Amino acid sequence: HNYVFIMAGGVGSRFWPQSRQACPKQFIDILGVGKSLLQLTYERFLKVCPQENIFVVTSTEYHGLILEHLPEIEEKNILCEPCRNNTAPGIAYATFKALALDPDACMVIAPSDHFILNEAQFVKDINESLEIVAKQDILLTLGITPTRPDTGYGYINFEKTPGSKICKVLRFTEKPVLEKAKEFLADGNYVWNAGIFIWNVNTIMRAFEQYSKELYDIFKEGIPYYNTSGEQDFINTHYKNTPKISIDYAIMEKADNVSTMPVDFGWSDLGTWASLYQVMEKNPANNVIPAGEHQLEDTADCIIQLPKDKLAVIRGLKDYIVIDNKNVLLIYPKSLEQEIKKIAEQLKENE
Ligand code: GDD
Ligand code: MG
Repeated sequence: HNYVFIMAGGVGSRFWPQSRQACPKQFIDILGVGKSLLQLTYERFLKVCPQENIFVVTSTEYHGLILEHLPEIEEKNILCEPCRNNTAPGIAYATFKALALDPDACMVIAPSDHFILNEAQFVKDINESLEIVAKQDILLTLGITPTRPDTGYGYINFEKTPGSKICKVLRFTEKPVLEKAKEFLADGNYVWNAGIFIWNVNTIMRAFEQYSKELYDIFKEGIPYYNTSGEQDFINTHYKNTPKISIDYAIMEKADNVSTMPVDFGWSDLGTWASLYQVMEKNPANNVIPAGEHQLEDTADCIIQLPKDKLAVIRGLKDYIVIDNKNVLLIYPKSLEQEIKKIAEQLKENE
């Protein structure tokens, strides 16, 4: 009864200029390991359930890229969204699709662009979560101990339950302002939402019905079509009517049956340059820079990416992002990296 839906339709605009709309970061070998983030994610889930139960939810635009990166995936396991309306509509589609496949389905909703260090622990935690949601009507999310007041995450205020692996969520706050994030960090009873959700199909269905009726109604209409030759036509006709909203705002902030399982498998959302910086190997001055005869003086804590064979000569730079990618040179303080998303969006037409 276990199904995995990998969300791979985002554009990763905070990772600009390496991640671009035509080839977002899930299709890039950002870690330099010879595989894209999507390929790493897919391989990880092959340890959780059989290949036929793993689906990729993406934009029609990336259909070709998905096949290129996952040549073994069957066509019917790719769910295509005709327009980009954020994660809630995609997850609503996945929910109705899962229901059509198996009314007792337990679902994992997973991002396609995360770094996970300890895979064995990850698989163990996912399996345990799946066992829990098979028996309980909760919306379960994996929780990560926060290390900095990052405003790019969802923050989960939880109630400690002695002796239980999962904790009741009192409040879910998506992407708080910095002041709030600092408060949450200091409080101690908060974890970050890892963006990995586990639930049974009926529970999430009820949540859509209760908190996002518009989405529920649109996808409910499609019940006669899922898993038939009419599915894509139905989606192509109706998807554009869905509200543009993430699952975090549409459901997680509102629902009262959310639980979290605090986990520790070496997680990083490779959402921004600073998060990549954290997981990459550093030189003695704590710079992340490609191998080469670079001349760095009085330069520390930077992440520097250059085209092959390009040499860097830098003096007096601290805590900066330096990305030389195709037609763009980005030099930006790490502390202001959340602004990169806006810049990327404004410059879209120059891509
Ligand atoms: N299919 C599809 N369609 N996938 C999408 C879309 C879409 O329109 N938009 C985004 N995605 C995919 C992305 O590719 C990524 O794998 C995942 O959904 C999450 O989207 P992000 O855009 O990366 O979300 P976020 O990082 O801002 O925030 C979420 O993740 C954080 C942890 O990484 C939230 O769930 C936060 O609460 C959470 O802390
Ligand atoms: Mg993300």
